[in-house]
Amino acid sequence: NTFCRLEKQYVQKTDIPRYINVAVVGLSGAEKEKGAMGVGKSCLCNRFMRSSSNDFEDDHSSLLSNSDFSGRVVNNDNFLYWGEVIKTSKEGTEYTFRVIEQTEFIDDSTFQPFNGVKMDPYIKRCVATKIESAEKLMYICRSQLGIEEKFEQKVLPFGKFNVDGFLCVFDVSVVPGRSIEKQLETVTNILKNIKTTTKPVVLVTTKNDELNETYVQEVQKLVSRNEFKKAIPIVETSACLNVNVDAAFIALAHIIDRFKGRTKIVPYLESDYRL
Ligand code: GTP
Ligand code: MG
Repeated sequence: NTFCRLEKQYVQKTDIPRYINVAVVGLSGAEKEKGAMGVGKSCLCNRFMRSSSNDFEDDHSSLLSNSDFSGRVVNNDNFLYWGEVIKTSKEGTEYTFRVIEQTEFIDDSTFQPFNGVKMDPYIKRCVATKIESAEKLMYICRSQLGIEEKFEQKVLPFGKFNVDGFLCVFDVSVVPGRSIEKQLETVTNILKNIKTTTKPVVLVTTKNDELNETYVQEVQKLVSRNEFKKAIPIVETSACLNVNVDAAFIALAHIIDRFKGRTKIVPYLESDYRL
């Protein structure tokens, strides 16, 4: 009986939350790449991390001054750390999500990407799975940049982020200055590069509150293309209206969980269960 009680305590104590590290990716760059506005990566992250209407902003422009680019939030990187949030799936599984957004910051004096020449192109860079950035702070909103000390300061744990899976964003609204072909080409290349990482991916359509029916059909064709073998799941979202945002991240967590389940089985003697 004592043993059983001990065992129970042990099991309860080690019932640690599941960490799911997500990278949000999608068409990014200067205006000539993405058109008059972005595809909705930041708004999706904002709605997921801080879903109440008071905390939701739609201005997360990537146009930055030199000093904001080198401040501790952007930290001279082309990604944002959005922090950590706990969510519960419909089946009652609790997940702790950590989220980064892979983007491309643009210098507001030259309108060119920062570090332009030295970098890999976005479609290659955004699928990195081992990411490091010492002392990087969580991003909250645009007005935080430059006055970081006036906001909650949360550091990227250990300055490291290992990606478990990707949310690849596709904007299904019509944006001036961006063709559907451009977005299809970029997203196809990103998906191909994600495939080489062997990490799971969910395709998230954004701005469904302003959807264009032809764009929706194009995305459906894209994910069922032979080269992706197994069709990539699609989740249709609107960050502005908070539709299906949690569902997109939880769908990815479920796929990751199954992956983990498969790799975690260890022989009895090698397991680290010790009283
Ligand atoms: P970059 O990081 O600069 O590449 O852009 P992004 O992909 O992060 O796009 P962002 O989230 O900044 O969204 C750009 C704009 O799209 C926002 O300022 C909104 O005006 C609009 N937008 C984003 N989400 C939605 C949505 O759910 N519905 C509608 N109608 N518009 C949206
Ligand atoms: Mg953004």
